[in-house]
Amino acid sequence: MSKASAKPDYGIDAPGVIRNLFVIGVGLLLLGRFVPQLQVGPVTFILGPMTFFPAAALILEGILMIVYAKHGKLRHRDRMLKMVDWKGNESVLDVGTGRGLMMIGAAKKLTAGKAVGIDIWSTKDLSGNAIEKTLRNAQIEGVAGNVDVQDGDATALKFPDGSFDVVLSNLCIHNIPGKEGREKACREIVRVLKPGGKAIISDFIKTGDYVKAFESAGANASRTGINPLTFPWLRVVDVRKHA
Ligand SMILES: C[S@@+](CC[C@H](N)C(=O)[O-])C[C@H]1O[C@@H](n2cnc3c(N)ncnc32)[C@H](O)[C@@H]1O
Repeated sequence: MSKASAKPDYGIDAPGVIRNLFVIGVGLLLLGRFVPQLQVGPVTFILGPMTFFPAAALILEGILMIVYAKHGKLRHRDRMLKMVDWKGNESVLDVGTGRGLMMIGAAKKLTAGKAVGIDIWSTKDLSGNAIEKTLRNAQIEGVAGNVDVQDGDATALKFPDGSFDVVLSNLCIHNIPGKEGREKACREIVRVLKPGGKAIISDFIKTGDYVKAFESAGANASRTGINPLTFPWLRVVDVRKHA
């Protein structure tokens, strides 16, 4: 496929969750349709209307997650990248890059240097999550020469202190088990930032905990309100390491 006709594919987040939303939603609809009434002792449950609204809510959530994965995540990436005052020569790290969403977006801002992406490649967290798919997206987006994709764990980054001007991360840290693990990832992000460096970290839960962890690791941090054009609704934590 030529670069001109190919389109990047940044994957579907939490594909198992989406599958379960559809399976349970459709199951409830069928239950209401084929078992409209249920007699339990003296009580009669009218299942039809009782199952319709929860079923519709679950199916709608699944659809909104797919719309985010196909469209919303590109707009959300742009919103995050706008929070950096790019000069073009920054060294950039994307933590939990997946199929390269933030890393590739950052690489397009660079005129020198590279954007590095690290991941543990969990296919539970992102469909088709594999280093080859990330490199393919970089090739399609015309930034293959400006990226460096590596295996790496957010809780033990393999980079020396003060390696990066900018650290980015979208929807990664909540996947790390345990509060201590997530705090460790926040400490690692501050450690690998240069003094005065900036981190832009987005997630749908626990962002208040991240703010506290970044601040106790030696940075100023604040978070935005939710972005209603994403699903799940995402907040962005804006971090500046002390100079
Ligand atoms: C929901 S996906 C988001 C991927 C990408 N940032 C995006 O927005 O499209 C979460 C990513 O975090 C990665 N991840 C989870 N735990 C990680 C860890 N401890 N270290 C590095 N990456 C991790 C997963 O493998 C997955 O690629």
